[in-house]
Amino acid sequence: MPPLIMEPFRIKAVEPIHLTTYEEREQALKAAGYNVFLLNSDDVIIDLLTDSGTGAMSARQWAAMIEGDEAYAGSRSFLRFRDVVEDLTGYRHIIPTHQGRAAERILFTNLLQPGDVVLNNIHFDTTRANIEYVGAEARDLVIAEGRVPSIRHPFKGNIDLYQLDRTLTEEGERVALVMVTVTNNSGGGQPVSLENIAAAAEIAHRHGKLFFIDACRFAENAWFIHERETSQRGRDPKSIAQEMFRLADGCTFSAKKDGLANIGGFLALNDDKLAEKCRNLLILTEGFPTYGGLAGYDLAAIAQGLEEVVQESYLRYRINSVARLAERLTEGGIPIVEPPGGHAVYIDAAALLPQIPSNEFPGLALVNALYLLGGIRTSEIGTLMFGDAAKMDLVRLAIPRRLYTDAHLAYVAETAYAAASLAHSLTGYRIVKAPPVLRHFSATFEPLQRVGQAPRLSRV
Ligand code: F0G
Repeated sequence: MPPLIMEPFRIKAVEPIHLTTYEEREQALKAAGYNVFLLNSDDVIIDLLTDSGTGAMSARQWAAMIEGDEAYAGSRSFLRFRDVVEDLTGYRHIIPTHQGRAAERILFTNLLQPGDVVLNNIHFDTTRANIEYVGAEARDLVIAEGRVPSIRHPFKGNIDLYQLDRTLTEEGERVALVMVTVTNNSGGGQPVSLENIAAAAEIAHRHGKLFFIDACRFAENAWFIHERETSQRGRDPKSIAQEMFRLADGCTFSAKKDGLANIGGFLALNDDKLAEKCRNLLILTEGFPTYGGLAGYDLAAIAQGLEEVVQESYLRYRINSVARLAERLTEGGIPIVEPPGGHAVYIDAAALLPQIPSNEFPGLALVNALYLLGGIRTSEIGTLMFGDAAKMDLVRLAIPRRLYTDAHLAYVAETAYAAASLAHSLTGYRIVKAPPVLRHFSATFEPLQRVGQAPRLSRV
């Protein structure tokens, strides 16, 4: 187990947790149709559904919010936001948006034609959905190791450079954009090396293509580079991040992750013509280019968050706390995606619950067991989310930033041990009702009870 690195902050405000009983949770889950997305958050003890917009802000961020300037145009908060983003990324045009997917939609609407292809290590769901919405194709080219949960590799998020070059050579005229997602959320929150980003940029540019970064977790990626890439060891994470951004022509960003804010995002790029088109669409759907759908105080919080997120003491603690949870799970014999990523630990539900076939949703069975046993809310990333195209059945334990202490995460591990000890008696689920797209958000289910298997978890 990695040694404990204490939180490099004091806690200034606290929020009580409603400690539910097993019976209360059983009722709440049933009422939610066995879908934790449909629970009220008051019925959740530890919420690991996402690390997006769920972190704790600093006293300085709150102070900056109070000083936020709500002017419609040219607000002081925007100017600070722009200066901080410009210093970090080096891009000429900084376009604020209400969150990451809005930046994606604005970029793809202006850049892509039906039939175009976008290449990426692995597209996040909203990125893929926004590409497909305009009739283009989102193609994933992560290295082979990035698809096997048990293989350890320092940069499992790397894009396959050989495949990238080959695709551009063979189908170059269809490819409109090359992207790299850092860290690679859909592949387990795995980092991409600086060397790989540089090589991917070089290949894209050699073929005359734009190269963008999906930068939601850029600081966590920079920390992994600092820790694992021999040539970068000891380098300041901010300077690594600055180089990552400067290798690309632009980025999409959700400030809800490494912006350390509860809402916000941006699109940043160098191309003047494309930026003008994006700003015009922004005005139509998000707002004037100096607020982009955000309040002035949101921009102020993001600017401050971006300065805090690259601090070495913060990143060392952050990545360590996720690694300790992963190690606790591994010590308890729970199979996880190795090595753990930056923002989440992914349990391999298919390996833990081999008796549940993928069409009975082993991930959902584990998600619901973790909720019933300990009030922990997690999310299924597998057959329920992706249908038959799913390559793995995982459960993501996403860790909000600065929100939970090591004791909270120890409790999470204990709950997971309890679920693992009952693994043989867990049953799968059947869909009662599901919408045609993005079914995992709102579908309802019924537990399948099999002869010889316990119909209900025992109390812990
Ligand atoms: N790209 C990546 C890699 C993401 O992880 C997300 C969001 C987005 C884009 C979209 O950003 O939510 O601000 O619109 N990921 C969240 C998650 C929702 O839970 O992983 P957004």
